[in-house]
Order: sequence, then structure tokens, then C-alpha cells
Amino acid sequence: MMNSQKKVCNFSAGPAKLPEAVLEKAKDEFLSYNNSGISVMEMSHRTATFSKIINKAEDDLRELLVIPDNYKVLFLQGGGTGEFAAVPLNLMGYKPDRCADYVCTGAWSAKAAKEAEKYGKVNLVVPKSDKYTEIQDYSSWKFNPNASYCYVCLNETIHGVEFQDIPNIPNNVPLVADASSNFLSRNLDVSKFGLIFAGAQKNVGCAGVTVVIIRDDLIGFALKECPIIFDYKIQGGMNSLYNTPPTYSIYIMGLVFGWLLEQGGVSAIEERNVIKSDLVYNLVDNSKGFYCPGVAVKDRSRMNIVFRIGGEAGNETLEKKFVEEAAECGLIQLKGHRSVGGIRVSCYNAITVEEVQRLITFMKEFQARN
Ligand SMILES: Cc1ncc(COP(=O)(O)O)c(C=O)c1O
Repeated sequence: MMNSQKKVCNFSAGPAKLPEAVLEKAKDEFLSYNNSGISVMEMSHRTATFSKIINKAEDDLRELLVIPDNYKVLFLQGGGTGEFAAVPLNLMGYKPDRCADYVCTGAWSAKAAKEAEKYGKVNLVVPKSDKYTEIQDYSSWKFNPNASYCYVCLNETIHGVEFQDIPNIPNNVPLVADASSNFLSRNLDVSKFGLIFAGAQKNVGCAGVTVVIIRDDLIGFALKECPIIFDYKIQGGMNSLYNTPPTYSIYIMGLVFGWLLEQGGVSAIEERNVIKSDLVYNLVDNSKGFYCPGVAVKDRSRMNIVFRIGGEAGNETLEKKFVEEAAECGLIQLKGHRSVGGIRVSCYNAITVEEVQRLITFMKEFQARN
């Protein structure tokens, strides 16, 4: 049964809602892809049919993000967490000092920095924090001029902190970005980055495939201990087919890219994402303190909207009630991450304006009742 029939709105932070049209197409093609008599799941990654699937996915992604020709696109396994290791394993050696700058603006960039410490020196560009509610002003960032790269997380899924522009870093240092939770949700000038990676399971597909977009001149510096499946040079040289790639996840992601193009591309989706997040933030801001946003207005995420209920520290009883009553109305997965509590509304690309409007109606009624 499709989501609309169940009247379920799935605000999960990931794996997250997929566009209904994509699920329908996958269902139609599930048993026999393109009259082949077999499912994509059962197909060798070395067949001409699968080559077409992976190549089309790459072409569509290149069109969506206007990826310059001097960038490789890789479809890898290992998720975002795999890239926390793969990035330093491939890039620490880009400069002789084997050190990297990390800008920690939330739990995910902090985890990435910790992982990178295994493979080289890590310079924390902004001081450590245990609560992430804003991005510190660029003027306070302390760079290491000899860093092999500078790492940021464009959208912190747990803390709801998102960069609204491309971080300002020294010219000669490649910018590396984790875009797992805002990939293709807004325009991005790829040419300003050395590397961008994103797990598919939030905005562009199901779990299992991780997109890596990397500038050619950064390839070829892998440390000798880098596992071969993470070696960007090996994978880039073989169109991500050195070993068996996550074939079905690549197929689903390709369907999502096709759907995004049909929607009018990234600009059209971005417009819709602005409408969606404005709806929620406006309600929160006008709730006279009933709903309390924790993140500085300038850094608020469009994708993961976090807030507390009944005071800045949150009234846990009320929050639990909110999550339960919302679920009874078919509005599911609204609980904040266990490390921060409160409520998290994840509004990825597949969430419609109508679904957000349903949530808004519920939030207004909930406030009136409590
Ligand atoms: C921004 C971000 N980076 C990395 C990860 C880790 O991804 P994975 O679970 O695919 O390893 C997540 C997971 O939610 C995330 O939100």
C-alpha cells in the first residue's frame, strides 16, 4: 500500500521517504526490468543493462548539479561513516604534513574529525562544543595553512545546523564536504569543492550507496593502508565497478535523479524546500514560546528542523505526547535524536508541501490543546 493510501507522512531523518512515483516505478519493474525477465537485484554488474543504469544515474546527477568535467563521480559502499575514514585515507597524503582542518558544527563533523585522527593530524578550526546551536563566525576560524584539506558538514542532521553559503576557507586548501543530509536539496557550486560526499538514504535514494564527487587533481594520494574499495583512484578508474557495487541502491538512486529532473531540477526543488521549512519555522517562531527553536536563525537547517516544546529545555512529557499524538494522525518519526531530545522534522526532497501543511495543522491544534 502506498503512503498516501495509508495517509502516513514519514518525517524520518533517514532512511527517509522516497518519492511515491519512484516507488511505483520500482514496483512495476521489480520482477522484470525492461522486459529482461529478471530484477535489477538479480543482474550482474558487468552486464550492458546495468552499465546503462549506472551511466544514466551518473549523467543525470551531472546534469542536476552541473558537475564540471574535471570531477569524477563515484558510487561507493560504506555510507557516510565509511567516508569519515575514506576521506583522510585518500586525502591526508595530499600535502607532506599529513594534517587536515576540521570544522565541527555538530555531531557528524565531530565524528568525522575523530575518525580522521587515526590517519593524520587534525586541527579543530573552531573550538569543541557539546551543544551545537550555531556556526561560529568565519572570522574566528583558525586554519592550518598547510592542511591537506578542510572538512565541513554542510547540514548537521542531528543538531539542525546548515551552512547557507559556501564556507570561506584559504584558497589553496581543498574544501571537503559531507552533504549527506542536504544533497540536491539546494543549489551547490561544485567547482568550489575538492570533494563532496553523500549517503543516498535521505534525499536521493535508499541506504547502501554513497556518492563521492571528487576533483581529478586530488586523486592518487591514498595512504598505503587505504583499503582498495575506498581507493578513489582505483574506483574512479573503473567507473565504481572495481568490485560489486550496491546495484539495487544505484538503480533506485537513478530513479530519484530522474524524478528530480522531472520536477524541474535542483532550483525547483530548492524553492519547494524553502516553502516547506518556512512553514514550520514561521509557526514555531509565532508560537509565543510554546515551540522553542534552538538553532540561531542564520544557521537553521531546511532539512532537519529541530525544536523543543514547552520551554527552551523542553518538557519531555509534552514532547512524548506530541510524538505519540502525531503518530496517531499518521505523522510519524518526529522524535528528536536521542542525544538531543525534543522534536525533529525532517523535510527532505520527497516530502511534499501538503504533508508539511498537515503537520502545521496538527502543531496548531496540539498547541491549542496544551
Ligand atoms: C550528515 C551525516 N553524515 C554522516 C552520516 C552517517 O551516515 P551512515 O549512517 O550512512 O554511515 C549521517 C547519518 O545520519 C549524517 O546525517
